[in-house]
Amino acid sequence: MKPMTIATAALAAMLAGGVAGAFAHGGATGVVKERMESMEALGDAMKELTAMMRGQRPYGAERVRALAGIIESHGGDALTELFPKGSLDHPSEAVPAIWSNWDRFSAIANRLSEYAAALAKAAGNDRPAAGAGGMMQGQGMMQGQGMMQGQGMMQGQGMMQGQGMMGTGHGPTAEMLVRMPPDAVFLHLADTCSACHQDFRKKQN
Ligand code: HEC
Repeated sequence: MKPMTIATAALAAMLAGGVAGAFAHGGATGVVKERMESMEALGDAMKELTAMMRGQRPYGAERVRALAGIIESHGGDALTELFPKGSLDHPSEAVPAIWSNWDRFSAIANRLSEYAAALAKAAGNDRPAAGAGGMMQGQGMMQGQGMMQGQGMMQGQGMMQGQGMMGTGHGPTAEMLVRMPPDAVFLHLADTCSACHQDFRKKQN
């Protein structure tokens, strides 16, 4: 009787999970559904990268390149073409500002691909000592690389985050990023997701 109960509970949990997943898209169809799926692929890739950067999962340059490749392929035109004008059908969380501010929206989409490509290139760069605790240690770690330029850049980072750096293309160039530790590039990539969501996606509760 007992094993049976456990098995049933596990099954119930699995089913509940499936149902919750289905509700997340709450009847989305067409291009809204497509972009939600695309965004979810981005979310999955970022989740795995986050675990690696935090040391919760072994770091593998090959895997980082693969995940960065997925992100790159979902950015740029692949992203913007999933936002035809006025496509706000329920349950979309997109906002009309996308189309009144299209230049900025598409600039961020392009940046996503550029930064992802930079992450792929930086995947094999030196990383800060394991367990440095927090990726923001990035500033200290640049020293070891004898890259003065890199240091200045890292300092600027905090400032730019505060301002919503993605605005009009004032973030570091991809060329700068490829010389940084992958952890730092990853941060800039994550900023790119947030910058777009902040302005172009309904606020999450
Ligand atoms: C250029 C803008 C832009 C960029 C860059 C961007 N997103 Fe989004 N994202 C959106 C918009 C707009 C929505 C809401 C779409 C909708 O509901 O119609 C969204 C929704 C999402 C969702 C919710 C999907 C769902 O099922 O409702 C996830 C998850 C997500 N984004 C993850 C990411 C991650 C991770 C990144 C970075 C790797 C990223 N996004 C980059 C604009 C962007």
